[in-house]
Amino acid sequence: MDEKLRVTDCERCGDLVDSRSRIVNGVGPADADLLFVGEAPGAQEDEEGEPFVGRSGDVLDDALRDAGLVRADVRITNCVRCRPPENRDPTSEELDNCRGYLETEIDRVDPEVIVTLGKVPSEHLLGRDVAVTGEAGELFDVRIAGETRRVLVSVHPAATLYDRSQEATFEATIERAAEFTDGGDQARLGEF
Ligand code: URA
Repeated sequence: MDEKLRVTDCERCGDLVDSRSRIVNGVGPADADLLFVGEAPGAQEDEEGEPFVGRSGDVLDDALRDAGLVRADVRITNCVRCRPPENRDPTSEELDNCRGYLETEIDRVDPEVIVTLGKVPSEHLLGRDVAVTGEAGELFDVRIAGETRRVLVSVHPAATLYDRSQEATFEATIERAAEFTDGGDQARLGEF
């Protein structure tokens, strides 16, 4: 793994230092076409030290596979790298504290598309209120750390576990993302 993408010690957020057992860094190729951004590690991610390895991760892995991808093809990270207590949402201060690490990751990976998984990462990167269910599957050009980035809004994979009607939305969004990988339609368009 690219060592510059790893945060190995950080004590900026008092609550998170107390609640985490480790810092959960992003995983996947350092030059991936797709960068998935979640909210923060949950219990299992905190235990294993890898993003999206719990039930949400299974949903994500299934959708990737259905879209012709495997987890190892994509990069997966979170807005906040330490597990919040009782899985509460990260505060705006915690999001700000971790923002530089996320921006460094975006800058170095330089993905074709950033897929925001759920409300927190969508609002964090778009910098506005986002009605995720209504905007899922839509692409936006967003300035992030001085560059224009393509951001694809997605519902959180866990939403499909609570509300089956979100399943098709989630799968269609991942299929749209896959078009931007090597071999996908959008990537091929770039060759002409
Ligand atoms: N949900 C997230 O937003 N991130 C994870 O890593 C796991 C679940």
